[in-house]
Amino acid sequence: MSRQRGNFNNVGALVIKLVALGALAAAGPCDIYDSGGTPCVAAHSTTRALYGSYTGPLYQVKRGSDGATIDIAPLSAGGVANAASQDTFCAGTTCLISIIYDQSGRKNHLTQAPPGGFKGPEANGYDNLASAVGAPVTLNGKKAYGVFVSPGTGYRNNAPNGIATGDAAEGMYAVFDGTHFNSGCCFDYGNAETNNLDTGNGHMEALYFGTNSAWGSGAGSGPWIMADLENGLFSGANPKNNGGDPSITHRFLTSVLKGGPNKWAIRGGNAASGSLSTFYDGARPNASGYNPMKKEGAIILGIGGDNSVSAQGTFYEGVMTSGYPSDSTENAVQADIVAAGYATAPLTSGPTLSVGSSVSLRAITACCTARYLAHSGSTVNTQIVSGSSSSNLKRQATWTVRSGLGNSNCVSFESLDSPGSYIRHYDFVLQLNANDGSKAFAEDATFCPQTGLGQSSLGTTSSVRAWGYPTRFFRHYANVTYVASNGGVHEFDAASLFNDDASWVVGAGFA
Ligand SMILES: *[C@@H]1O[C@H](CO)[C@@H](O)[C@H](O)[C@H]1NC(C)=O
Ligand SMILES: *[C@@H]1O[C@H](CO)[C@@H](O)[C@H](O)[C@H]1NC(C)=O
Repeated sequence: MSRQRGNFNNVGALVIKLVALGALAAAGPCDIYDSGGTPCVAAHSTTRALYGSYTGPLYQVKRGSDGATIDIAPLSAGGVANAASQDTFCAGTTCLISIIYDQSGRKNHLTQAPPGGFKGPEANGYDNLASAVGAPVTLNGKKAYGVFVSPGTGYRNNAPNGIATGDAAEGMYAVFDGTHFNSGCCFDYGNAETNNLDTGNGHMEALYFGTNSAWGSGAGSGPWIMADLENGLFSGANPKNNGGDPSITHRFLTSVLKGGPNKWAIRGGNAASGSLSTFYDGARPNASGYNPMKKEGAIILGIGGDNSVSAQGTFYEGVMTSGYPSDSTENAVQADIVAAGYATAPLTSGPTLSVGSSVSLRAITACCTARYLAHSGSTVNTQIVSGSSSSNLKRQATWTVRSGLGNSNCVSFESLDSPGSYIRHYDFVLQLNANDGSKAFAEDATFCPQTGLGQSSLGTTSSVRAWGYPTRFFRHYANVTYVASNGGVHEFDAASLFNDDASWVVGAGFA
């Protein structure tokens, strides 16, 4: 109790000092943890500096056109990321987030995760890197980008410096998108094995967010903030269900985990307003192998400790600390996160595809400018369509723009001649299927049009990004259509002609 009081006073003193300096906005989460005696030993964010004085790189992006990289830094000390420098660098091509830098000075950077117990989708078994444009936001009105993790995406650091090992105490928080999740294993951020393998119970201590209930679960149907302690997602003392851990879906979600010798806690709240609540605070789970812990101190993002890679989620910022942060320190961090002013930003750009309108999408690649996005049965392809085509073909090449089934800030394409059927990707191939009402269908049928990657004398172009896989775009390849990434592992991901094949002139529907 007295220790907590002491930490509170330290935090209060820091705030007062900063107010006196007229610099309250300059205090970052890691300044607050420092003041509480539990310093950050890793600090990751693509959206902002996490120390008031930090001016170094936040993340690195790599572009598809020539493989060049650029570091993205804050606009000012302690400030928001310079998203405009990314936009300029990535104009007319695709970009991936290749490094998420550690701001703590310990060089605990996160890079493309290697294969482990499970292989990633890259040819060498590594995980995919995240698109640099999948998770746009604003912080107090300034644009920034988060890390949109699709299944198959993951980051890791297996040679950490100063992260808790064994039963040592640590804390961590992360800001996630509470509306982006699935039941796959495991969208995690935190402490994991150094060899990418499941080395046994208690070898991890990471935040988990999602609806996986194969191990533990909380109240309702999720998603829940839980602790991935290896071979189990835990919501409290009971290894299975704990009603104290609520379903939580704030668009911007603060999730907090801390653990020390036979004690740990889960906390959470709305990252855009209000305070944290405590969902569990007590002894280690009542299952063998979790007391004492055997933490290894590697850092993961978006995956499980053994590189389980089937989960999805969005990460904006997060830190890991040395020592067990007090609730009051975490409460001050939450106030700092709220003050950062997270808000949503448009997911689309370029020509507007108005909901309810009837459109055609014309290919621009030199081979194929007579071709339009169409379907034959459930196959989505390109076909040669003109004013003299049959009315059947015209209807097959005409799409009604609908509000995105999986995200209303993007769109879905309903077939004119098959009402209730939508374009969706399945194994990255476009298909026309009846809406089955599932979350997976809705997400796989949701696309975010953006300024075209390629240009054409035929007119202004759009590229159509898969909402759930923002590295992937509508692309025609041998006249069949896919959601393709620029230079990925599939034949249809070929870098050659990518920009043209993935760009379309959107016009009026044929029928
Ligand atoms: C822990 O598990 C054991 C074995 O199942 C059980 O006997 C005991 O009551 C449990 N304790 C608590 C606090 O749940
Ligand atoms: C695709 O369409 C182009 C142009 O219409 C044609 O030349 C080509 O042979 C087609 N390719 C395949 C694989 O059908």
